[in-house]
Amino acid sequence: MTQAKAPTVPRHVAIVMDGNGRWAKARHRPRSFGHNAGRKAVREVIEACLREGVQALTLFAFSSENWQRPQDEVGALMGLFVRALDKEVDELHRHGVRLRFIGDLDAFDEALRERMHAAMTRTAGNDKLQVNIAVSYGGRWDIVQASRQAAATVARGELRVEQIDEARLGQWMSLAELPPLDLFIRTGGECRISNFLLWQVAYAELYFTDTLWPDFDQACLRRAIEDYARRERRYGRTGEQVAISS
Ligand code: FPP
Repeated sequence: MTQAKAPTVPRHVAIVMDGNGRWAKARHRPRSFGHNAGRKAVREVIEACLREGVQALTLFAFSSENWQRPQDEVGALMGLFVRALDKEVDELHRHGVRLRFIGDLDAFDEALRERMHAAMTRTAGNDKLQVNIAVSYGGRWDIVQASRQAAATVARGELRVEQIDEARLGQWMSLAELPPLDLFIRTGGECRISNFLLWQVAYAELYFTDTLWPDFDQACLRRAIEDYARRERRYGRTGEQVAISS
């Protein structure tokens, strides 16, 4: 991984890309029009992260709960993911981006799964920026899958129950190999986590903005990073202790 330019730049940024539907509705267009416009914002933030020296960007593209949306919207989103994979992977690869998909990938049809795996394999050697796309992902799902791996390891006799602690369980969580999540952004005006990265968000700085996702551009990301740079991260210590140690 390349180093962040300065300690004020978050190493790992996660974004809940909310507001596509409302953006489309304001223009009297179907929700899928908003999701398509959201693709441009994805490009903008990836470019900005490359420029800023962010090491990892994790995007919430489709939650475990999104399967419950109307079938035509789910279908439109799947079509959009396929088109995005077909069109964007070359350019991401050229820019040194490593792509990863996290979530219950088995929930997708074989064609899409194959495209996701192909994109991951193709970009596996890149190290400028890691972009993680969370699909059919839920923070609770992630904790359950990590717990299952822990239980299976115990059942194989390779680990004792008393040896399971936060560090050990954390190794099985998605994205454990990356720098810890520093900055969690949600667009679209709602102030909630919505089951995204529940474990990983423990010490992240939270940033909520009313900007709808399709309008989120590089200047918006810069503002979020500037806000982050002003935060004092105490990790349970007092402000005085933090001042002494820094
Ligand atoms: C939430 O907005 C957004 C989604 C469920 C889909 C996110 C997908 C994209 C931004 C498309 C591009 C992504 C990739 C990775 C190519 P919403 O529909 O809940 O909006 P609303 O709250 O206004 O209804």
